[in-house]
Amino acid sequence: MRSQTILITGGNDGIGRATAQVLLERGHLVVIAGRSPVKMKAAVATLRHRTGSDKVEWLECDLASLDSVRAASDDFLRRFGQLDILINNAGIFTNDLQFSSDGYELQFAVNHLGHFLLTNRLMPLLSDAPEGRIVNLASVAHFHGKMDFEKLRGEGGAEAYNGLHAYAQSKLANVLFTRELARRYPEVESNCLHPGVVRTRIANKRSRWYYSLLWSFYKPFMRPTRCGARTPLYLALSPEIRGVSGRYFDERQCCRKPSADARDPELAGQLWTISEQMVDIKSNPAV
Ligand SMILES: NC(=O)c1ccc[n+]([C@@H]2O[C@H](COP(=O)([O-])OP(=O)(O)OC[C@H]3O[C@@H](n4cnc5c(N)ncnc54)[C@H](OP(=O)(O)O)[C@@H]3O)[C@@H](O)[C@H]2O)c1
Repeated sequence: MRSQTILITGGNDGIGRATAQVLLERGHLVVIAGRSPVKMKAAVATLRHRTGSDKVEWLECDLASLDSVRAASDDFLRRFGQLDILINNAGIFTNDLQFSSDGYELQFAVNHLGHFLLTNRLMPLLSDAPEGRIVNLASVAHFHGKMDFEKLRGEGGAEAYNGLHAYAQSKLANVLFTRELARRYPEVESNCLHPGVVRTRIANKRSRWYYSLLWSFYKPFMRPTRCGARTPLYLALSPEIRGVSGRYFDERQCCRKPSADARDPELAGQLWTISEQMVDIKSNPAV
């Protein structure tokens, strides 16, 4: 396989870093995107040390800020000018109502909206690639998700906020986004996945102490990150995925039926339109 140019969000930690490591071991050019230059530089050094490859670069991109996503995509276009595979991996979980720089509920903003904007801005490169692919990290949690378009700015306040529901909604958005990407851009293979329950720090970073403690308690029973990376790698690289698009895969690389809401084409179209309005694509031709 020829060397591919691959961008992976949240490539400095957890499943993203494990995925980046294997991609580097296979000789690809990997760009990891994240919000903290300090963490990104440390991750690049670790990845270079572990793989012996110097084909790893970093890109500053805070998905909780639409301006940062715009700057990051400009930077990517300028520095690399081509993209074969985009892995929308970054994600957060929190119990408490928090907001992005643009005033949106944080889990929806980071897990879906920032990726929506990044993907749209990089789509010309993916469409031009010989075999462009998009891999979205969703979750089995999407089965519990309901799209509540009335509450994307945290309407109802902290009392009405349920972090688990908001996380599930953001993961449902990942599956709906994948479906709509496949419909709008048939030249690019877009798929999403559940990586398994993976031993990362996702629920230690922003959640309440008792939730973080519970997550840590169960860590010995979770899959290691290299196993969590298997399905993203399969969807990114496997020749079996050629011609397969808009699908949801589980941690064993099996194509599964997602929830009924995730299969609703009207809901997918509605999410796309609302996301466009939220990132101001239509009124701002420069996106
Ligand atoms: N772990 C699981 O069991 C599990 C299960 C189902 C689905 N998933 C999904 O898998 C994906 C990866 O999660 P993980 O478990 O590997 O978590 P993780 O170890 O916490 O990694 C998440 C990555 O996202 C980055 N990130 C967070 N906020 C960001 C922002 N505003 N802008 C840019 N990057 C940001 C993090 O950067 P920092 O280091 O700076 O925080 C980190 O690199 C997520 O989409 C998650 O929903 C995970």
